Amino acid sequence: MTDSSPRPARPADLTRIVAVHQAAFPGFFLTALGPRFLHAYYRQVLAYPAGVLLVAEGDAGLVGFVAGFTQPTGFYRALPRLIGPLLLGLLRRPWLVGHAVGRAVRRHESTPGAAELSSLAVDPAAGGHGIGSRLVRAFLAAAARGGATAVTLTTDARANDGVNAFYTKLGFRLARTVTSTGARAMNEYTWDLRSAPSRAGGGKRST
Ligand SMILES: CC(C)(COP(=O)(O)OP(=O)(O)OC[C@H]1O[C@@H](n2cnc3c(N)ncnc32)[C@H](O)[C@@H]1OP(=O)(O)O)[C@@H](O)C(=O)NCCC(=O)NCCS
Repeated sequence: MTDSSPRPARPADLTRIVAVHQAAFPGFFLTALGPRFLHAYYRQVLAYPAGVLLVAEGDAGLVGFVAGFTQPTGFYRALPRLIGPLLLGLLRRPWLVGHAVGRAVRRHESTPGAAELSSLAVDPAAGGHGIGSRLVRAFLAAAARGGATAVTLTTDARANDGVNAFYTKLGFRLARTVTSTGARAMNEYTWDLRSAPSRAGGGKRST
């Protein structure tokens, strides 16, 4: 497998980013809203000036991506622009309306100065080759360049041991566990960019 460094995404990558999201997050809310919604969502991340969207390529093309923002609040304020694709997704899957309302009324909290890593996905067929780790390290570097003092992320606390082990092994600190929409327990991880050199990857070199 090609061991190339992650690079910034381009508009032409969006179709493949959506396909990797669908493969890596089967049954998740955003996935259930359909490919048109996901395309619009990642296009907005790409267009947002404080957005970070990086992709990793293997022999067969784009196999993973990481998305987030150095200023999350501005991104979430602009989310009403996604109302059209969201409504289309809900028309096709009306049983998701309750979930969408729950997410909308949930107050988005972000730590001042902290970047947010909002999604990370590697094509299941390309997993276990260090691609996820490289994407996270590249995100940390991009967040630091963008002036962030920390990086935060959330992931399911339950039935998700592998992903929790992945972030812990990289060096993220579990800050707290919160209950989200539908009594879903979420672990919030943080990475302090102000402390000494990146230890992401258990001592492996940073990208
Ligand atoms: C989590 C994910 C990004 C990991 O990508 P990856 O390319 O397979 O990860 P890496 O190969 O860099 O793994 C790094 C380390 O984490 C460990 N790890 C990764 N996934 C793991 C899992 N499911 N269970 C246990 N350990 C895991 C690896 O064993 C590896 O350890 P090592 O360095 O000692 O060998 C990928 O599995 C994925 O896309 N999952 C679905 C989407 C998701 O849950 N994303 C994260 C939430 S936003």
